[in-house]
Amino acid sequence: MCGIIGYTGRENGIPKIVRGLSVLEYRGYDSAGIAARTESGTEIIKCRGRIGTLCERLAETPISSQTAIGHTRWATHGVPSDVNAHPHRAGRVTLVHNGIIENYSELCEELSGRGWRAVSETDTEVAAALIAEEYERTDSPLISIRNACSRMVGSYAFAIIFEDVQGVIFAVRRGSPLLIGRSTDGSYLASDMTALLPFTRQYYPLAEGEIACLSADEIEINNGAISHSPTWQVSALTAESAQKGGYSHFMLKEIFEQPEALRKVLSPRLRTPLPDFSGDSIEPDFWRGITSFQIVACGSATHAGMVGAHFIERYARIPVTVHTASEYRYSPPLAAEGTAVLLISQSGETADTLAALRYARSQGLPTLAIVNAVETSIAREADRRIYTYAGPEIAVATTKGYATQVAALALIAIAAGLARGALSASAGETLSNSLLHSAPDAITEMLTRRGEIASFAQRLKSHAHVFFIGRGLDYSLALEAALKLKEISYIHAEAYAAGELKHGTISLIEQGTPVAAITTLPALSAKTESNIREVASRGADVIRISADESENAIRVANGSEFAAFFSAMTACQLLAFETALARGCDIDKPRNLAKSVTVE
Ligand code: G6P
Repeated sequence: MCGIIGYTGRENGIPKIVRGLSVLEYRGYDSAGIAARTESGTEIIKCRGRIGTLCERLAETPISSQTAIGHTRWATHGVPSDVNAHPHRAGRVTLVHNGIIENYSELCEELSGRGWRAVSETDTEVAAALIAEEYERTDSPLISIRNACSRMVGSYAFAIIFEDVQGVIFAVRRGSPLLIGRSTDGSYLASDMTALLPFTRQYYPLAEGEIACLSADEIEINNGAISHSPTWQVSALTAESAQKGGYSHFMLKEIFEQPEALRKVLSPRLRTPLPDFSGDSIEPDFWRGITSFQIVACGSATHAGMVGAHFIERYARIPVTVHTASEYRYSPPLAAEGTAVLLISQSGETADTLAALRYARSQGLPTLAIVNAVETSIAREADRRIYTYAGPEIAVATTKGYATQVAALALIAIAAGLARGALSASAGETLSNSLLHSAPDAITEMLTRRGEIASFAQRLKSHAHVFFIGRGLDYSLALEAALKLKEISYIHAEAYAAGELKHGTISLIEQGTPVAAITTLPALSAKTESNIREVASRGADVIRISADESENAIRVANGSEFAAFFSAMTACQLLAFETALARGCDIDKPRNLAKSVTVE
């Protein structure tokens, strides 16, 4: 949600800010802006629309600046508009913000009582005014930031310029991510690593409660008591990993990266034929001590959790419940002795998942996180973490992030099954082999059939509603397939357990309504076939995504359960992609969405 970037150094920062913003655009893209220190003071250029629109504005008023901050917005308070776009200025303070100030109306009332008048409808402007007021009183950037932040409830990452402190950017965060970067030409800050990669791989993840003070040659971190230099880390990612690499869309690139992504998450934990999480500091005893899992996540990660729950219950015989993170701490499920909470998040920063993690910890429950982006809040705060190593995922709709989450969960199921004696070594070996080899191969095979899937997409593209049905594991996949289709093509898509459709929703089936039926499981396909007949006899246009030989079907791999699942998953992703393409949608940046949802 919202991307922020800052640079202060010896070179012109404007092209750097624009470059960083275009990488961060996936975090929000309804408006963008830059604040730049020039000889005449701090200039702000901002507008509604994409980074491209901001570039047009910058071309009309070219500026050069060695100290600048930038922002790309996903609106929360106030509609997308020029005036609500960041940066915001109050008095001698100009800032950009990612997060939500939950008590902004109280603060606004209080400031208004002292004569301050807001220009925008944003919570951010209130934060700027609060810091500016403190700055008038204390004349110290550090103290004014600290005092103002102590009054704010909610989450934030701020990059702040003080009018009379030349060449310096201050940064502070709580709940929202912020990385500091260093290069030979100066100092950087950004919401995530991908925006730093064009300039540097050296980074320092700012901790909560720390204030960073960036100048061209020096970066100081103040933790309230003392100031220290950052301890630099080096990212394993490269700038190329966050580029399209010849593909028309990031989403397509990421779909095609899945066989490799699966190998990356599995190989380090499958050096012997059996799973080994000792590299993640998880020993077999951990699985032995668990009596149940609560899986907690948002969006597609929840759907991955549902698939994982099937595997864990079947192979490890551990009961699992799956929870939407935004509900978890407000309607907390009962936790028996031995319950562990498994959090899943591609970005590692999703606010609701992070809040659920903190809640679980406050209840004394052991926590394990499956995370893609390293060194993120969820990865840092969980007791244990398993990284999925999928590399940067830029398209808003997740594909390889989801696939690697499922793969990690499948491996957990096998490891836990072995540790608890629910699986024999030979069964564990067969499953591990199938996961490591047949699953990536099945994805690769499906990727060769893009053209065939595009012809099925033609049948969906003009419809207002599409239904997906399946049973068991196929139902969990159907939920993800429907989400993929609706988020990028804007076609209303719903998933139903195949046997459930007739309890009401079948009334929506008309002549020609598309129903995609997923049947990868031999044991359940006869049952789902009956449900297919029910809708077909009411006029539905049925598309089968099936391991069985049948007409009108996208035939998926039938070698093993894992191969069938990942093959069908790829078919569903390509079906959504090709449908959105046929409808001319903005696939990588669908309307109203943002990739990293750092507000509750
Ligand atoms: C957003 C994204 C989804 C993602 C969800 C959870 O809604 O658009 O693709 O599944 O957040 O994100 P996370 O980073 O926690 O996996």
